[in-house]
Amino acid sequence: MNDELRQRVIQALQRGEDLPSDWARELFPPEKREYELTYYGKEREEDIIAGTMAVPLQAERTFGRNGVDWHNMLIFGDNLQVMKTLLEQKKAGKLCNADGTPGVRLIYIDPPFATKREFSGSQDQKAYQDRVAGAQFVEFLRRRLVLLRELLANNGSLFVHLDQKKGHYIKVVLDEVFGENNFRNEIIVRRTQKNYLERDYISSLNVATDILYVYARSTQTQFAPVFKDEAIAETWHSLDAPNWSGTRPNLIYELFGKMPPKGRCWAWSPEKATDAIERGDLRPNPRTGKPVYRIPARDKTLCTSLWDDLAAYSFSSGYPTEKSEKLSARVVQMATTEGDLILDAFAGSGTTCAVAAKLGRRWIGIDCGKLAIYTIQKRMLNLKTEIGNKGKARKLQPFTLYNAGLYDFSKLKQLPWADWRFFCLQLFGCKEELHTIGGLQLDGKLKGASVLVFNHHEKPGVGIDEETIKTIHAAVGKKIGRKFYIIAPRGVFGFQQDYIDLDGVRYYAMRVPYSIINELHQREFTALKQPNDEMAVNDTVDSVGFDFIQPPKVKWTPGVNARKGQLTKEAFLKIDKFESRARLRGEDTHGGMETFSMLMLDFDYDGDVFDLDTVFYNHQMEEAGWEARFSAESLGNNVMAVFIDIHGNEAREVIPLTQFSLQPTKPVAKKTKAKAKPKK
Ligand SMILES: C[S@@+](CC[C@H](N)C(=O)[O-])C[C@H]1O[C@@H](n2cnc3c(N)ncnc32)[C@H](O)[C@@H]1O
Repeated sequence: MNDELRQRVIQALQRGEDLPSDWARELFPPEKREYELTYYGKEREEDIIAGTMAVPLQAERTFGRNGVDWHNMLIFGDNLQVMKTLLEQKKAGKLCNADGTPGVRLIYIDPPFATKREFSGSQDQKAYQDRVAGAQFVEFLRRRLVLLRELLANNGSLFVHLDQKKGHYIKVVLDEVFGENNFRNEIIVRRTQKNYLERDYISSLNVATDILYVYARSTQTQFAPVFKDEAIAETWHSLDAPNWSGTRPNLIYELFGKMPPKGRCWAWSPEKATDAIERGDLRPNPRTGKPVYRIPARDKTLCTSLWDDLAAYSFSSGYPTEKSEKLSARVVQMATTEGDLILDAFAGSGTTCAVAAKLGRRWIGIDCGKLAIYTIQKRMLNLKTEIGNKGKARKLQPFTLYNAGLYDFSKLKQLPWADWRFFCLQLFGCKEELHTIGGLQLDGKLKGASVLVFNHHEKPGVGIDEETIKTIHAAVGKKIGRKFYIIAPRGVFGFQQDYIDLDGVRYYAMRVPYSIINELHQREFTALKQPNDEMAVNDTVDSVGFDFIQPPKVKWTPGVNARKGQLTKEAFLKIDKFESRARLRGEDTHGGMETFSMLMLDFDYDGDVFDLDTVFYNHQMEEAGWEARFSAESLGNNVMAVFIDIHGNEAREVIPLTQFSLQPTKPVAKKTKAKAKPKK
C-alpha cells in the first residue's frame, strides 16, 4: 500500500467512515492466487469448515436388512450440516468404500438455482437485486463445495450439474476450491429442447444444453472410459504423417513400392508396419497403391466431452428437474467401480441413489424437501433392474431413512440411555469424554468445559432446580473453570432461564427438545423451509441449527363429488382447518393455512410404508376451495394422507375408504396394522 492511500485510510477511519469497496484489493491483496472471484459475504474456507454445525442423524426407519459394515443412507435435512456430520464419520473411519478406502469416491450434485425470483422496482434495482441473489447463490454453493471436497476420498471425483446461467461463476469457484489443476472436463449434455417459435426475430437462442463440471480430488483420481451406443463402420486411412523438421528419418522407407510424399514420413516404424500387414490391418490403397491402415468396425464409440447421445432429463417420477438414469449411469460408470460410495447432496427424485443401487454401489442421498424424501423412498422400494426404470422388479437394496436437524422428540425419549446420551452430546456439538470431577461422573466437553448429560432414565421424576445446581456447585464449583453444561429433557429443569451464575461459574441448562442459547452458537439459527408450490421445489434452502417436530393440527373431510354425466367418480379430501404448531428456534409458534405446504397421498396404503402417489401444493388446494380431488377408482381400502407444514412437520392420517362413502374394493386383509382414525 502506498503512503497516500495509507493516509487516506487513516483519515477515513478517524472520521468514522466506511472504506470504499474498491480499496479492498489494496488493503487485502490476494496472497498466492493470480485471480479469484470476489463478492460480498465470501467466507474463509477455514471458517466455513469450523463454523458449520454438525447435527446428529436420527434413524427414522430401516428398509430391508442393513449390513454390518455399511448401510445406505437417505437423509432429510439441510445438506451443509449433514456434510459436517458425515465429515466426522469419515474421520472416525465410518465412511468407507467397500475396498476400505475412507471417503466418498464420487459426488454428483445437481443444485437448484431459483429462477423464479421476481423483484419489483426499476430495471436498475432489479439488476442489482439479481446480482445480490447471484452472489448469495454462489456462496451458498461454495460453502457446500468446500465441505464436499473434504468428504471425497483421495482418488475421488466431483461432478457438478449446472446450466448456462451460473455455470461460469461456479467454474471459477470450483477452480479455487479444488485447484485449477484438478479440473478434468466440462461435459456438455443435452437438455430437453423447446420447440422453435415461428417468429421473424428472437431475443436469444433456445437453450439445448446443460454443463457437467468434473473435478478430481487429486492426481490419483482416474476414470474408466465410457462409450456411446454408436456403431462405427470399418474405415481405411492414409499412413503418411508430417515429418516435423525432418526429425523422423527412421520412418522414411519404401512400403508397397512407395516412398512417403515429400516432407512427410510413415506414421509407423517398419517393424510395426510388417506386423500390421500380417494381421491384414495395412495394405496398399487399391486405387493409388499408397499404404492405408484399418480402423476396425466397432459397435460403440468412446465418449468425448459432448454427451449429446442421451437426454439429461427424465420425467418418470413426476419430480421437477429429474435427471435421467442414463446420464447418471454414465457418470457412475466413469467414476466408480462396484462397492464404491456415491453421494448426492441434492438428491431430488433420487436418480443417483437409484442408479447406484442398480449398479452395486454404496449410496448416500440428502435432500431438505419432504417431497424429495418420499419420492426417493418410493423409488428405492420399487426399483427395476434396468437403467431407465425398465425390466423386472429388483430385490430391495436396504437403506435407512434419517432425520438431520428436525427431530421427533417422542422417539428420542424412548432411546436407551446410551443412545440418548450420545444423541444429546452430538446435538450440542460436545465431544464425548468421560471424566470425573468432585466425585461427579461427567460425559463430555464443550469448548473445554465439562458437560453432564442428566440420566432421566435412572432418576424418573427427579428434576433439576436451583437447589440441584447449588449442590453440583458445592461438589465441583472450584474445579471446573467458568462454564458448566447440563443437558436434560426440557421438563426436567425446574427453572426458566438459560443459565444460573454462582460465584463466577455459569451453569447452562441445555434443554431437549430445544435449546438455542445464542451465546453458544456463532450463527443465528434459521429454519428449514418446505415449498408451497411446484416452482419452489427447486429453490435453494439454507437452514442452520436444529428443531423438533410438532405435528400440525388438521381438520379434514373426505367425500365423493357426485357430478352428473361423469363416468368415473371423483373423490375429495377437504382441509377444514390447518394449524401448525412449530417449536421454532426455541419459541412455540402458531400458524394457519398460510403455513400449510402440501398434502401427499398414498391411494392404497398397505398399513406399513407410505407410498407417495400424488401431491397437492398449497396454492392448488386454495384454488380448489382447499379440496384435493382425485379419481375414486384408484383408491384402495385405506388412503394415507400426509399434511406437511412449511417447516417440514407432518400430520399423518389413515382414512378408510368407507369414510369417503365408498365401498372397500378388496377383501380387508387381516394383517393390516394401520388403525383407522374416526372421521373428523
Ligand atoms: C435440481 S433438484 C435435484 C434433482 C435430482 N438430480 C434428480 O434427478 O431428481 C435440487 C434439489 O436440491 C434440494 N435442495 C435445495 N437446497 C438444499 C439443501 N440446502 N440441502 C439439501 N437439499 C437441498 C431441493 O429440495 C431439490 O430437491
